[in-house]
Parts: sequence; structure tokens; C-alpha cells
Amino acid sequence: MTVEPPLGMLAELTHRCPLHCPYCSNPLELAAKRDELTTAEWLDVLDAARDLGVLQVHMSGGEPLLRPDLPELVTRAADLGCYVNLVTSGLGLTAARLADLVDRGLAHVQLSVQAADATRADQIAGAKAHSRKIDAAAVVREAGLPLSVNVVLHRANHDQVAALIDLAERMGADRLELANTQYYGWALRNRAALMPTPEQLAAAEPIVRAATERLRGRMEIVYVVADYYERFPKPCMYGWGARQLTVAPNGDVLPCPAASVITTLPVENVRTRPLREIWYDSVSFGAFRGEGWMRDPCRTCDRRALDYGGCRCQAFMLTGDAAATDPVCSRSPQRPVVDAILAAQPEADVPDFVMRAPTVARAEPSRTQTRA
Ligand code: SF4
Ligand code: FES
Repeated sequence: MTVEPPLGMLAELTHRCPLHCPYCSNPLELAAKRDELTTAEWLDVLDAARDLGVLQVHMSGGEPLLRPDLPELVTRAADLGCYVNLVTSGLGLTAARLADLVDRGLAHVQLSVQAADATRADQIAGAKAHSRKIDAAAVVREAGLPLSVNVVLHRANHDQVAALIDLAERMGADRLELANTQYYGWALRNRAALMPTPEQLAAAEPIVRAATERLRGRMEIVYVVADYYERFPKPCMYGWGARQLTVAPNGDVLPCPAASVITTLPVENVRTRPLREIWYDSVSFGAFRGEGWMRDPCRTCDRRALDYGGCRCQAFMLTGDAAATDPVCSRSPQRPVVDAILAAQPEADVPDFVMRAPTVARAEPSRTQTRA
């Protein structure tokens, strides 16, 4: 098969983060500061990525603003002709810092929001962060940059979908992503606390639909479904090794941000192999590219060009076999694994969140607040 060059690169500059979100999709084992790529190494990665064809660079983390060399990295990526997006919690994004980044070529900011009000948002973030995010959004708008607001939805904030849309409007967002939690990394540990109820999902749908209509042309709304409840899986990454690569803080190069969960996958690193070789010739990127790896039922399924057999990481986490059909799929013989997880969801006595720090917060601020 012909392998196309990648379009985008997720550059995870650091795993360090001021927030402690229970839905964090970063791995259980975070890269230590001492293992992070140096400035010179990141500059080389950016050069190699552009040479490979990358046109969009998403500088992410953890919190990328914690890297003092962020301005230098933005300059290099922009000078190479890339569209540079900053994926941030907003903490530390002052007007002066942003003005400098914009001068250097930053094109877009994606800001995370945890809930519609400060009390609940700060509880979910495990930090006093919400009011600083409101300030960060104002700074982005004043700088004239396009703003995306990203909200991870779960049981403890799903009832706020309408209020979250209002908030994003007030923040002046051009785009709002309402993404139901995907259970990777730390989030998997909190699955029982995070899983929304079917009632919450049913209540959110018409709200999102009506808002999408009302705001058409002003604010785009992207709703990412709760795939455990769906009949078919998501087209994860638009195919393995097809459009994007991820470089982790320690230089590991992954076909998707969660791929380190697949313990059978030989992970490559920019310190030991050129990025071009990793993209075109490595075992890890070739493992699930195209359709040759598929078995039944995917191999002959009429949907295989639509969803690429679903998510390889989810298949591995739920079945122990990364080449299995994503068990979210109703045609998978292992769909009962997902059904059993849903059936075991507690209706009451939802467990506490396990935060990414020793702090513990309740999953649900109160029963009345979270009932949709
Ligand atoms: Fe997609 Fe495979 Fe399910 Fe078909 S069987 S819908 S290709 S995951
Ligand atoms: Fe890794 Fe879906 S998250 S393939």
C-alpha cells in the first residue's frame, strides 16, 4: 500500500501539568522532567517533521507553557511554514506571553475547560483554575487569535452541557469541542466514576443539536460521542499511521497519543531513529496501517473503510489483543465485554475520582445537580 506523509504532529512537550484531572488520557507512567527532549532535540524534531510533510503542529502536554523554550519552538515551527496550535490549560497564559507567541507565529489556541462554574470546575481540575481560564480566553480574543474551547464530558459535568455552550459563547470561542471521555491512560482508572448515564446522554443530545443549529456560522460545535454506548466504533485517528503522529515528552514516537498502552508494540524514539524512518518503515507504525492486519469480522465488513476497525488501543485494553475488532462494535464477538462494563455501572454510590495528585474529590457534586 502507498503510505501518505503525515499531516499533523502532536508535540507533547512535557507531561508536567498544574491540573490533576481524573479524565487525563496521558499514560499512568508520566515522562519525568529529566527525560524530556532538550530544546535542540525538539528543534530537530520540528525540522524532521516538516521535512516529512507535517503542516500542523499541536504543542501540547501536560502544560506546554511550563517549557521555557516554548517561544523558540513556536518560532521554528512557524518559520518552517507550519500552522501552530497551542493546547493549554490557560494557566500562565498572560497577555504578554501570548503577544510574544503570536509575534513568533502562533496561529491558534485550544483551551480546556472542566465545567461551567468555578466550584465544580476547580473540583474536577483539582486546582483553582476556572477564573484563570476565563482570563486566558479574554487574552486570546484580545490578541485576535482563533479560540477553541475543549470540554471533556463525564458523569460529573454532563448535566452542564447547556451552560457549557453558553460559557463558550461568552468566551468568544470559534469552536467548542464537547468530547465524552475516552478511557485511556489515567481515565481508565476512573471509568466507573466518569461514565455518563444513558439519561445524561439522551438529555444532552437535543441540547447540542439545537445549539449547533442556532450557532451555525458563529461557533462550530463538535460533539464526540460516548463510544461504549454506540453500535459502531469511532474512526480512531482516521486510521493507524495515516494522518498524524505523536511525539511524547521523552521522544517516543507513537501512532496515536495513547499507543503506549499497547505493551506488545515496539516503541521507537527520535533519539535512536530518524522520524522519517519511523513513519515509513517502523514495525509500530506499520502494525495496523491499511486493512491487511484485519481479521473477521472487520476483514470483510462493509464499514471497514469508514471506521478502520475502530480503536487499536481500546481493543488492546479491553481484550488484550490490539488486532481484535474494537469491542465497542456490535459486530464484534467481544461486544459482551463492553456490555458487561455498562451493566456494572453503579447507579448510586459512584466511586470517588482518583485525581492525578493525592487530592480526592467526589465524582458527583450532588445527585440533584448531576441528574439530567
Ligand atoms: Fe467497523 Fe470492524 Fe465493526 Fe465492521 S466489524 S463495523 S469494520 S469495527
Ligand atoms: Fe490509539 Fe485509538 S487511541 S488507536
